[in-house]
Amino acid sequence: MSEPVIAAKAPAKVDVQAGKTYWWCRCGRSKAQPFCDGSHKGTGFEPMEYKAEEDRQVYFCQCKHTANAPLCDGKHNGL
Ligand code: FES
Repeated sequence: MSEPVIAAKAPAKVDVQAGKTYWWCRCGRSKAQPFCDGSHKGTGFEPMEYKAEEDRQVYFCQCKHTANAPLCDGKHNGL
């Protein structure tokens, strides 16, 4: 598996809805960041499922180096 592409060095703020499932792009190649658009095909990466348990605002990682996937842990600051 190759390294993920850094899609952005800042998280994406998203208002998630309770009960809804989101597919976070892990490879960094999606044009629909922070979510998967199928561009990972052939890279060895697969998207990560995120199920929202409540309506709230979350920050999805876009640098793809977070240790708290799929959410931002601030790692982009050191890249
Ligand atoms: Fe990146 Fe699917 S496009 S995981």
